[in-house]
Amino acid sequence: MSRVTRVQRILSLEEDDLQALCESVDAAILDGGGFGWLQPQGRQVLERYFRGLLLVPERMLFAIRLDGVIVGGAQLIRAPRNNELQAMCITLAHLFVAPYARRRGLGAALLREVENAARNMGFRVLNVDVLQTQTAAIALFEKTGFHIWGKHPFYARVGDELVSGLFLTKCLDDTLPLQSTKTRNEQEASHTP
Ligand SMILES: CC(C)(COP(=O)(O)OP(=O)(O)OC[C@H]1O[C@@H](n2cnc3c(N)ncnc32)[C@H](O)[C@@H]1OP(=O)(O)O)[C@@H](O)C(=O)NCCC(=O)NCCS
Repeated sequence: MSRVTRVQRILSLEEDDLQALCESVDAAILDGGGFGWLQPQGRQVLERYFRGLLLVPERMLFAIRLDGVIVGGAQLIRAPRNNELQAMCITLAHLFVAPYARRRGLGAALLREVENAARNMGFRVLNVDVLQTQTAAIALFEKTGFHIWGKHPFYARVGDELVSGLFLTKCLDDTLPLQSTKTRNEQEASHTP
């Protein structure tokens, strides 16, 4: 039997949606990281976080439902207003699907809809950065056309260990020159005879 999935931008949170969102984040944290947290935060902290998030003008929250229940989410983060230089860019952050809903195509569906929303809002470049250990996410990003342009050796600390991170980008606008997605080194290498 097919199960109904739906992605939507969240502008306000009813109590049952808030609880489902917190539940899915808690499960993702216990599985190895969700929304940047390493340890479960307790329901009050998560509730305050999500209620506060909805008030931040630069941030947009998206959620994916499975059979009507929120099981994952993602954020889009615009550059601050003063940053006209990067007004065309938007950052994807904290894309996740609860472990109990993974490997059913939900992560791909969520990413596709969030990307479409960014494109429809007129953004031309979608950036994301991710722990190098998040291999599922990296596979998903690469499969959907993101280009790895950089690696940060001291990206994050997990326990006592420093973990590197990858920086990826995707052009949302076919008219952007492909070269603009290459790093300076790649551009120089391609011009070397
Ligand atoms: C990344 C994540 C969102 C994928 O969610 P999902 O619903 O399981 O993904 P899907 O079922 O839509 O899979 C889409 C593709 O992702 C990749 N993928 C998903 N899980 C994978 C895994 N365990 N190992 C390798 N590749 C994987 C595959 O390319 C897959 O395509 P395929 O099914 O044709 O092989 C989920 O694993 C997750 O929440 N991870 C932890 C959070 C995270 O790392 N977020 C990134 C921070 S921005």
